[in-house]
Amino acid sequence: MAQIIDGKEAAAGVIAAVTEAAASLEASAKLKPGLAVVIVGDDPASHAYVNSKSRMAKQCGFNSIQHSLPVETNQADLEKLVSGLNADPAIHGILVQLPLPKHLDAEPVIQSISPEKDVDGLNIVNAGRIATGDLSTGLISCTPAGSMLLVRSIHGDDLSGLNAVVIGRSNLFGKPMGLLLLAANATVTMAHSKTKDLAAVCRNADILVAAVGRPQMVKADWVKPGATVIDVGINRIDAPEKGEGKTRLVGDVAFNEASEIAGAITPVPGGVGPMTIAMLMANTVIAAYRSVGLEAPRF
Ligand code: GUN
Repeated sequence: MAQIIDGKEAAAGVIAAVTEAAASLEASAKLKPGLAVVIVGDDPASHAYVNSKSRMAKQCGFNSIQHSLPVETNQADLEKLVSGLNADPAIHGILVQLPLPKHLDAEPVIQSISPEKDVDGLNIVNAGRIATGDLSTGLISCTPAGSMLLVRSIHGDDLSGLNAVVIGRSNLFGKPMGLLLLAANATVTMAHSKTKDLAAVCRNADILVAAVGRPQMVKADWVKPGATVIDVGINRIDAPEKGEGKTRLVGDVAFNEASEIAGAITPVPGGVGPMTIAMLMANTVIAAYRSVGLEAPRF
């Protein structure tokens, strides 16, 4: 039976360190980190995510501001809001919750966020820094950063000699995750929907990272015995065993069978999920330190 990697515990450790760093910044520079979260429309799942981000920001001692815009907001008004936040010295982190309503084009909005305030790490300046191996001057996308922290909790900082396979090649996760593993000296394969014999590719992985958005797709016989499995999927499926109309959350990995083979594995929920929000707080306090020319803490 694999070691279950406790993301809630790891996230609590990051949140404690962020809270301490925020208090120390306020004491030494009279500066409270400020996080602005922008949400457009009324998708209930997005509102639930955003509310938990705002709540956590307050818990860390930040100045937490939420802009909830109506679904009919136009592109120009949204970009004007971001431009105002870019210019506001009390705001150190800006997050525009995705997805945006269909009539809005997310890419120019994301790219208009100042790289220094881009706590999601989605601006091409921050993405480019990771791609060139510069992990210290930009902001790193929260879910890959949090997943790396869990990988490091098992393998340490140096992944020399280990094969890592990432399934999924999105800008939000797969690409930066592959680059972070590479920067830590892993031998990285980026697999995706067009990969031939995906199961065989995965069986070669000492570190297997699944981010495909398909419930329980990664089976036990895809897992190399003793491998570390990081499950980034969050899928809601029917759970008739809990009663009519009930649902439950599962990852991209068939957890019960895979945990018989893996050496260490993240559960869903309670694995990567809590890390994402913790790393968002970490990025915000880092951005606040840098805004006054202080060396930022590392997480
Ligand atoms: N929607 C789901 N995940 C994310 C995320 O990490 N960042 C943003 N901005 N929106 C999201």
